[in-house]
Amino acid sequence: MSGVVVAIDGPSASGKSSTARAVAERLGFAHLDSGALYRGLTLVALREAARRDPSAAEPLAVVDAETVLRAAEDRGLMLQSDGVGFSTYVDGEPADSAIRAADVTVHASSVAAVPTVREWVNIHLHGLVRAGRDVVVDGRDIGTVVFPDALLKVFLTASPEARASRRISQRGMRIDPASLAEEAKLLAARDHADSTRATAPLQRAGDAVELDTTRLDFEEQVARIVALARERLERR
Ligand code: CDP
Repeated sequence: MSGVVVAIDGPSASGKSSTARAVAERLGFAHLDSGALYRGLTLVALREAARRDPSAAEPLAVVDAETVLRAAEDRGLMLQSDGVGFSTYVDGEPADSAIRAADVTVHASSVAAVPTVREWVNIHLHGLVRAGRDVVVDGRDIGTVVFPDALLKVFLTASPEARASRRISQRGMRIDPASLAEEAKLLAARDHADSTRATAPLQRAGDAVELDTTRLDFEEQVARIVALARERLERR
């Protein structure tokens, strides 16, 4: 028996993960962050690349995708249920902080552009939902590719400035014009890579509800999505 899926897609720092988690809590669903698997595979790629060639600048130049996927199995990359969400494990240890490191963030888009990598992630996501849990899944292609029959699809957007300032605040750093410009540049590069790749590019599903969160407060955006999901659950 498959669980109910609410899909939340959108660009980097549009607030997907925190929104998805809060929506999942209110609905009594689990929060499944697909980005954690792409980040986990990127961490595995970096560890494998460092083992083979410590001076390598680009992990996929040292290890191919097949090697990364095999290493992911060997190193036990997995998401394990931890109440509302899932924790990431690599090499038998919790890796939730390691997968958020700056070098993982920089290389995640190129790892995520490889079709076999995306197939591996999608098989794992389907497996977790087939286990029967109702989930809020966030990512870039959840409503378009991974769960096209989701009960509700939401596409979150926000202005580049709003997204950059959220990312800096998340790190607990001070927002000044220079750091804002630098962060906006990094986000724009990742948006470009994610939107122009050949396989499963970031795009809004035709039947997704678009929510621009630039001027919405967090509580408001969560409440809107929860109301939409409840409406659809009642209509089923
Ligand atoms: O940093 P942010 O929260 O925006 O990214 P993330 O959701 O943790 O995802 C990290 C990277 O994985 C993204 O830059 C995408 O390249 C990739 N990704 C993807 O391609 N498809 C998904 N469904 C989720 C993430």
